[in-house]
Amino acid sequence: DESEVVSALEDIFVIRPQTLRNICKHFVDELTLGLKEDGHTLKMIPSYVSHRPTGKETGSYLALDLGGTNFRVCEVYLEGDSKVRLTQKKFTIPDYAKCGQSDVLFDFLADSVLTFITENHIPTESDIPLGFTFSFPVNQTAIDKGYLMVWTKGFDCKDTINKDVVALLNEALARKNVKVHVTALVNDTVGTLMSHAYNDPGTFVGVILGTGTNAAYVEKVSAIPKWKGGPVESGEMIINCEWGAFDNERVVLPFNKYDQKMDEESTNPGEQTFEKMISGMYLGEIVRQVIVELVQRRILFGGVSSPEIETPYKFETAYMSRIERDHTSDLLDTKMVLQELLNIPYPAPRDRRIVRRICELVATRAARLSAVGVAAVVTKMERVEDGCTVAIDGSVYEHYPHFGNRMKDALHELLGMFEENVNIVLGKDGSSVGAGVIAALA
Ligand code: BG6
Ligand code: GLC
Repeated sequence: DESEVVSALEDIFVIRPQTLRNICKHFVDELTLGLKEDGHTLKMIPSYVSHRPTGKETGSYLALDLGGTNFRVCEVYLEGDSKVRLTQKKFTIPDYAKCGQSDVLFDFLADSVLTFITENHIPTESDIPLGFTFSFPVNQTAIDKGYLMVWTKGFDCKDTINKDVVALLNEALARKNVKVHVTALVNDTVGTLMSHAYNDPGTFVGVILGTGTNAAYVEKVSAIPKWKGGPVESGEMIINCEWGAFDNERVVLPFNKYDQKMDEESTNPGEQTFEKMISGMYLGEIVRQVIVELVQRRILFGGVSSPEIETPYKFETAYMSRIERDHTSDLLDTKMVLQELLNIPYPAPRDRRIVRRICELVATRAARLSAVGVAAVVTKMERVEDGCTVAIDGSVYEHYPHFGNRMKDALHELLGMFEENVNIVLGKDGSSVGAGVIAALA
């Protein structure tokens, strides 16, 4: 019956406090290992950003932001006094550009910059400096140089691997005769950290919980044995953890048969294990995998499926948000989602309750694992007692109901009373602004 079905799912998806603590311990070890030398699971990439902003930086910069739900081109005005103004235009990257030849993608980016500067009458007599937020793992060798290691989040242009993405963008801009040049290459997590630090100097961590997930934090150069870039005046370096790859070996995460199925069918099987249990690109797909299995076992919808339910990624994470926001006693909105968006002819009240519980379980697990990441980074920085601000951006954190509270509960289980020292704030539009701030500092 219903309660048996639900409790079997709980056994699979609920993460108990002791397990959280074990994962966290392993996470701290992995953070340390990644700083030691290259080739470990956590890439721990030095960002070449070694100064946090003072809030006094001024000027006008272009920013190009690729890697989240939207691709955007922005003009960022830093007014000093920690104040910022932002003008932006969002574009959707067509699927053919995500998985074709590099040039197709970079030409699309350059065209978008051209459209933006034309529409906004931005003068181009002198080359305009641009901060490029490129939110994928790159082997960064300078503030304006970075070689793509692997694609994540469904992008898959084979010939971009091992190329310097700044050079690719500069070449595309030159092909289109756009007088703009890239002065800084930035990960979205680093951008989020920097933009929040522009008005709160206590910000030491930037996190993205969106299409993908990742974190950046301020590390002491003396704690980065693999750093070979010479002396750093400030003694600090912002590290892009690329934490999405955490536990690709699958030794501590409660990776289950549904995760397994989703992973096998993804563009990057075996990679981004942590990201696949947390981020918006995948949560709906995990829920779909569970539903498909329950339909096959005739536990849901009287055993009747639909082409939509059978199609990968058709069950969007946004549907989960909607279902979790459904406060009607008969779950009428859940019924609408199932009928109208997923073509299930008659989802009975019992079916709706089970689907909603699946959403809760998958999303709660994601929030609790996100908290493990935050706790591990704060522990690694030895800031549990002194505290710090953690700026978080991304659609999952911003829009998914209860996500923040579920994280807080787990942080409490991990850090006890010190949980209060971790000040989590929403850092909206952070990475675009951060790219401007970094372009200013560069
Ligand atoms: C945006 C940032 O606000 O959030 C992007 O400008 C970032 O750089 C994105 O990648 C993450 O959220 P999502 O949900 O769009 O992936
Ligand atoms: C993916 C990318 C990473 C990015 C994160 C959030 O994990 O590899 O660079 O920061 O998504 O957008």
